[in-house]
Amino acid sequence: MDGGSAYEDLGELYDVWCAEVAEDLPFYTQLADALAAELGRPTLDIVELGAGSGRITSHLAAAGHRVTAIDLATSQLEVLRDRTSHTESPPIVVAGDMRDVATLVPLGSSDLVLVPFRGLLHVTTDRDALFADVIRVLRPGGVFAFDVFHPTDAQVAATGDRWLHRRLEPTATGRWRFDERATYARRSDGWDLRVDVRCRWEATKRLRRPRVDVRADPSVDAPTERHALLHLHTVEHAEWGASLTAAGFELDGSYGWFDGRPLSVGDDDAIWVARSAH
Ligand SMILES: C[S@@+](CC[C@H](N)C(=O)[O-])C[C@H]1O[C@@H](n2cnc3c(N)ncnc32)[C@H](O)[C@@H]1O
Repeated sequence: MDGGSAYEDLGELYDVWCAEVAEDLPFYTQLADALAAELGRPTLDIVELGAGSGRITSHLAAAGHRVTAIDLATSQLEVLRDRTSHTESPPIVVAGDMRDVATLVPLGSSDLVLVPFRGLLHVTTDRDALFADVIRVLRPGGVFAFDVFHPTDAQVAATGDRWLHRRLEPTATGRWRFDERATYARRSDGWDLRVDVRCRWEATKRLRRPRVDVRADPSVDAPTERHALLHLHTVEHAEWGASLTAAGFELDGSYGWFDGRPLSVGDDDAIWVARSAH
């Protein structure tokens, strides 16, 4: 499955679509700060897999870390480059597949590898090989952190196969409306999940001040609707832990949310922090 094409289609609307996702940022930046303090170094060598538009990378780079940002979607990387162009140490931007990380990043060169905002769910079935390669890219004792989710049966029943309104984003001349429809198919180990994202621009009479810089405010000739189809594969949380251990990681922590509360049965979100035992 090519997890990049949906984000290629979303383009600059990605940041508008997920403008309300913010709780993970302090978690990942504080993780980097804590590791730097532990290593006694002001900055780290960090790799973000599926870095997208630089929502997280831009903050890590602004803090002085040397970040390598890997993503398949070139439209996202374009936003990332724009966003970080004024940073003192701009990230190294790599258009590529995270599953090739061991050929894209020098081996043994990274202190921290991150996959924020569920990016691993695009490559779930390849996680064992990917985790083994992440170990190769990390320095001994390096840290790997990511977040994933696995819906409860109640969530599947409540959201499956129906269009749900996600959010509205006012722009200078109208507003973007985002709707989503999730379609779940049972797999032996979890759910195959497709999420149809529909972005529709609606003109409004009143002029509003944009809260986000939406360069996609359409001209008269521009298409006023955009679609993206996300393809994810979720598995039980225990599977992620088992794959980490099998690859040679020691678990630092597994959390049910970014406030650091421990992962419990029934949590839909899971955040994993592991350390290379090599
Ligand atoms: C939900 S977005 C997360 C982006 C960013 N990390 C953030 O937190 O906003 C997932 C990203 O993973 C990228 N992606 C999906 N499959 C990929 C793959 N196999 N290799 C590299 N990037 C991939 C997508 O293009 C997208 O930018």
